[in-house]
Amino acid sequence: MYVSNCKLVDLPKIHDFRGNLTFVQPDDVIQFDIARVYYLYDVPSGATRGGHGHKNLQQLIIALSGSFNVVLNDGTDTQVFQLNRPNVGLYVCPMIWRELDNFSSGAVCLSIVSLSYDESDYYRDFDEYLQAMRELRNG
Ligand code: TYD
Repeated sequence: MYVSNCKLVDLPKIHDFRGNLTFVQPDDVIQFDIARVYYLYDVPSGATRGGHGHKNLQQLIIALSGSFNVVLNDGTDTQVFQLNRPNVGLYVCPMIWRELDNFSSGAVCLSIVSLSYDESDYYRDFDEYLQAMRELRNG
């Protein structure tokens, strides 16, 4: 529920003379079952993606190519992660507002998520999100 619950995770990297291979499977790397995968690419320079929170969705974000920043906010704390390695993922727990920016040319952002696409799981309005977080914090 809080930025402090979000963290970078090292993914396995199998290296040999043919190149590197990384895989993600639900075990000790991610604790959720994978329901969907989507990816952002051809992001124009200066564009911002995200700009929303999720009620229940958990997510692992990976820079498959290039780099970008992920800004996480829980209404109190903000943390910026730069992702630039295909064998490092950023786990994002539910109820976190996220924005992605500073995309390099050719960046590909892979998202591995716990739920099918469902617009009712989104907070698209920051004030509505902040109000929900206040209610959560106040029990
Ligand atoms: P949006 O949530 O704005 O993307 P981002 O978080 O990367 O900024 O989604 C853009 C559009 O794509 C929006 O109309 C919803 C749609 N969409 C789907 O239909 N399925 C999906 O799995 C996702 C992630 C988005």
